Amino acid sequence: MSDTALFPLTDEHKMILDAARDFAQNEIEPISAEFDESGKFPSITIKKMGEMGFMGIEVPEDYGGAGMDTLAYVLALEEISKADASHGTIMSVNNSLFCHGILKFGTEDQKKRFIFPVASGEKVGAYSLTEPMSGSDAATMRSSAVRDGDDYIINGRKSWVTGGPVADYVVVYVVTDPDKGAKGITAFITDANQAGFVRGKKEPKLGIRASATSEIVYEDYRCSAENMLGKEGDGFKIAMTVLDVGRIGIASQALGIAEASYSAALSYARERESFGKKIGQFQGISFKLADMKTRIEAARLLVYNAAMAKERSKTTNERFTLAASMAKLYASETAMFCAHASVQIHGGMGYSKEYPVERYFRDAKITEIYEGTSEIQRLVISRLETGLR
Ligand code: CAA
Repeated sequence: MSDTALFPLTDEHKMILDAARDFAQNEIEPISAEFDESGKFPSITIKKMGEMGFMGIEVPEDYGGAGMDTLAYVLALEEISKADASHGTIMSVNNSLFCHGILKFGTEDQKKRFIFPVASGEKVGAYSLTEPMSGSDAATMRSSAVRDGDDYIINGRKSWVTGGPVADYVVVYVVTDPDKGAKGITAFITDANQAGFVRGKKEPKLGIRASATSEIVYEDYRCSAENMLGKEGDGFKIAMTVLDVGRIGIASQALGIAEASYSAALSYARERESFGKKIGQFQGISFKLADMKTRIEAARLLVYNAAMAKERSKTTNERFTLAASMAKLYASETAMFCAHASVQIHGGMGYSKEYPVERYFRDAKITEIYEGTSEIQRLVISRLETGLR
């Protein structure tokens, strides 16, 4: 949430930062504990975020978005996630995994039909890759689509779909040629209102509880070939390209959680007294704060660097996989480190639902898991660096 010497902010960046911060503090923060408790999807605030342009920050205005750059996106996402990581997840999936994928790989007709309602917040978009028996090893998926005239018939069970219980449109990745491995996977844009789209079990989760997650089951779902994203067999590359963008979003979300954890710990350490001193006067506490602050600033540089790499790719078309994975890896581990330290600094209060830090702690954990675990990020980074596999 700040100007750095390496990434000076323009007036436009400062404007979106202020708008996101005001909205997050005034409209999201006050309801975050209640929605965490109930696990309800926050439809009203998400709609408002769409009206403000937050659900399609990089989507051109012609398609219902805000037409801004990637740095604007991460700045806004960081502020929203600071108030509530569930809103951050929903925003990230809509912007990155849904809108970006269709913007980059979709036809003009698909962009008009599917991006507009999601970027403007009227509808919710989702991305569906994972299956009960296929997580990190995504290419081993089983769900399939079989050609039938001008349509494809989709069958299979997808899991861990963010927004699954409420999504209007889902980009699903399925096998069209089982003999071709990763090159036999194809992406389709599916519509929740159509027959054969069945919402499955809602996941009872540790954290980001308001960002509803569920299985989606396709039962002879008939999908027009017009809704194929890219070409047959392009699906795995599309899924990976889109995840590079998604990982920058999750890194920004993690940065927001880390900052919220740090700021709560800092205030508490300045106020709480023990043994006749402010607890922040003890090195056991103050050194934790120093480590948190240092890691946050390092994470910020990686996140902004990844955002700039993605921005450059709009003209060069170069991949930014390395920058995205490093940002996701470091920022998510920083979120967990800071949330853990913040609970510890709060002592018993950190374990109580009276304070938000126990929620930060529960929310932080997912950032090390979804959109590629920390182990997968290390695998991606090391493969790219060594050229070995
Ligand atoms: N961009 C473009 N293409 C890419 C790519 C990328 N980032 N990564 C791989 N590819 C291409 C490769 O170049 C290769 O193509 P060629 O054969 O033409 O060269 C093809 O894809 C296959 O690549 P790999 O051989 O590297 O594939 P792999 O099977 O070894 O898997 C992996 C690589 C990195 C492990 C990948 O499977 C992966 O990222 N796994 C994690 C999946 C994940 O993040 N799941 C989370 C899902 S979303 C979620 O969490 C829920 C939600 O709703 C938020």
